[in-house]
Amino acid sequence: MRQSKLRIFALAGLVLCVGGLARLASSQMPALPPLPAHPSTAITPQSLLATPIEEHQTNAAQLNRGRYLVAAGDCLSCHVREGGEPFAGGLGLNTPFGVIYTSNITPDKETGIGGWSADQFYRAMHDGKDEEGEDLYPAFPYPWFRRVSREDDDAIFAFLQTLPAVKYTPPKNDLSFPFSVRSFVGAWNLLFLDSHGFQTDSNQTAEWNRGAYLVTGLGHCGACHTPKNSFGADKSKQEFHGGKLDNWVAPDLTANSRIGLGEWSVNDIAEFLETGRNAHAAAGGAMADVITYSTAYLTDADRRAIAAYLKSQPASPATAASAPDARAMARGAEVYSDACSSCHLENGVGQSRIFPPLGKDAMLQQSDATGVEHLILAGTQIGVSDSRPSALSMPSFAWKLTDQEIADVSTYIRNSWGNQAPAVAASEVAALRKKLHLETVHYTDNSGDQ
Ligand code: HEC
Ligand code: HEC
Ligand code: HEC
Repeated sequence: MRQSKLRIFALAGLVLCVGGLARLASSQMPALPPLPAHPSTAITPQSLLATPIEEHQTNAAQLNRGRYLVAAGDCLSCHVREGGEPFAGGLGLNTPFGVIYTSNITPDKETGIGGWSADQFYRAMHDGKDEEGEDLYPAFPYPWFRRVSREDDDAIFAFLQTLPAVKYTPPKNDLSFPFSVRSFVGAWNLLFLDSHGFQTDSNQTAEWNRGAYLVTGLGHCGACHTPKNSFGADKSKQEFHGGKLDNWVAPDLTANSRIGLGEWSVNDIAEFLETGRNAHAAAGGAMADVITYSTAYLTDADRRAIAAYLKSQPASPATAASAPDARAMARGAEVYSDACSSCHLENGVGQSRIFPPLGKDAMLQQSDATGVEHLILAGTQIGVSDSRPSALSMPSFAWKLTDQEIADVSTYIRNSWGNQAPAVAASEVAALRKKLHLETVHYTDNSGDQ
C-alpha cells in the first residue's frame, strides 16, 4: 500500500516537471564539474542563432531552416549551463523530486548526439526516447515537440550536426527516489501523450494554422501557460488558462479581457514576443528567457501567426473578486508611494516600454498571486533582444519590505487602477520567501535599485 502511494506521487511529481522546470538559483546549485577547454568560447547562444549559414554551403537552405527552428523550440533556454558551451547541456532543472540535467546535443560522438541517426533524433522528439530507446523525462518538452513535422525535425538535426562538437558529460541526475523514476514515464506516455501529430484545420486560415503549429508544437507555450491536473498533464478544455511553475505564474493567454489577452491586439502580442515589452506589460521570470532565446528570432510573420492563434482562444470563465479590506489598501498605498512610485509613478501608469504600467494588468490580476509576490520579493529582468538590448530590471524588495508590507502592497496594486483580484495574506509571502532562499539578497545585487 505504502509502495503504491509512493509510486503515484512519483508519477505526479515526475510530470509536474513538464511545466515546472526552472534554472536552479545559484545558492541551490550543486558544484558543477569544471568546464572543459573549448576552442570557441566566443560562440554565444545569440551568435549561433543569429548568424546565417552561408549560401554556398551544401544544404544551406535546410541548415538555415534548422537554425530558425532551434530558436522556435527555445532549445537554448535549456541546453546550455551558466558559462557553458551552447547546446552542450548540463543545466539543472528543478523538479519536485530532484534535479534533472539537460543533455549534450552537440555532435560529439561520445558525450553528445554525434552518433545518432536522423531516425533516432525523430524518435526522441516524437516519442521521448533516447538513443537506446529508453524513456526520456518529460522535462524535455517532447509532449509538444511530437507535433513537429518530420521535415522540420530533420532540419533541426542537420543544423545541430554542424555545431562544434563539445566533449562534456552533464552531471548525473540527482533524484531523491530509491527506484528508477524513468520506468514510470512509459505509463504516463500511454495515459497522456497526444496520439496525433499536428492536424491542420481546414476551416481556419493558413496564418492561424501556422500559429497553431508553432504554439502547440515547438513553442510549447502550454507547457507553462496551461494548468496541469494532479498527474501534471494538461487539464482538458483549459488550454492557456494560466499555469504555475517554479513559484511563478504564467498568465492566462485566452481572450479573457481581465486576466487574459482580451485587451491586447495582434500587434501588442507580436511586439511583446519580439522585444519583451509593449504598452501593457514586460516579460520577466521564465518568459524573459523565452524572448531572449526564442521569439525574438522569429520572423514578424510567425510572431503575428502566434498572436492570431492566441487571439482565437475562447475566453476562460470570468471570476468574481470581493472588495479587499480598506485598512490593507491604505497600508498598501503607503508602501507603494514609498517604494514603487519612483518607477511606476503614483497613478500606476509607469513609463512606456521602460517601467510597465500596472493598471488593468492581466498578470497582476491572476487569481494566484504567486507571480506578483515573487516579483516583489526577488525582482526580475526583462528579456533582452537585438532590438532592445538593455536588461532593465525590477529590483528585489526582500531586504527592504516585511511580509506584511509585501502582502499589503500586492493587495493594493491588485485592486487599484481598474484591477480586481483576491487580497494577499502575509503568511503566503512568508512561505514564498522561505522557498526562494532570499535571506542573502541585498539591494546592491540588483542594478535597478536606488
Ligand atoms: C524545457 C527545457 C528543454 C527544452 C526547451 C529543450 N530540451 Fe532537450 N532535453 C531537456 C532535458 C531535461 C533532457 C534530458 C531528459 C532526460 O534525461 O531524460 C533533454 C534531452 C534532449 C535530447 C535527448 C538527448 C540524449 O542524449 O538522450 C534531445 C535530442 C534534445 N533534448 C533535443 C532538444 C531540442 C532539439 C530542443 C529544441 C527544439 C530541446 N531539446 C529543447 C530539456 C529541454
Ligand atoms: C527601479 C525601478 C522600479 C521600482 C522602484 C519598482 N519597479 Fe516594478 N518594475 C520595474 C521594471 C523595469 C519592471 C519590468 C520587469 C519585468 O517584468 O521583467 C517592473 C515590473 C513590475 C511588475 C510587472 C508588471 C507587468 O505586467 O509586467 C509589477 C507588478 C511591479 N513591477 C510592481 C512593483 C511594485 C509593487 C514595486 C514596489 C514595491 C515596484 N514594482 C518597484 C521597475 C521598478
Ligand atoms: C518556461 C515557461 C514559459 C513558456 C515556455 C512560455 N511562457 Fe509565456 N510567460 C511565462 C511567465 C512566467 C510569464 C509571466 C511573466 C512575468 O511575470 O513578467 C509569461 C508571460 C507571457 C505573456 C504576457 C502575459 C501578460 O498578461 O502579461 C505572453 C503574451 C506570453 N507569455 C506568451 C507566450 C507564448 C506565445 C509562448 C510560446 C511561444 C510562451 N509564452 C511560452 C512562462 C512561459
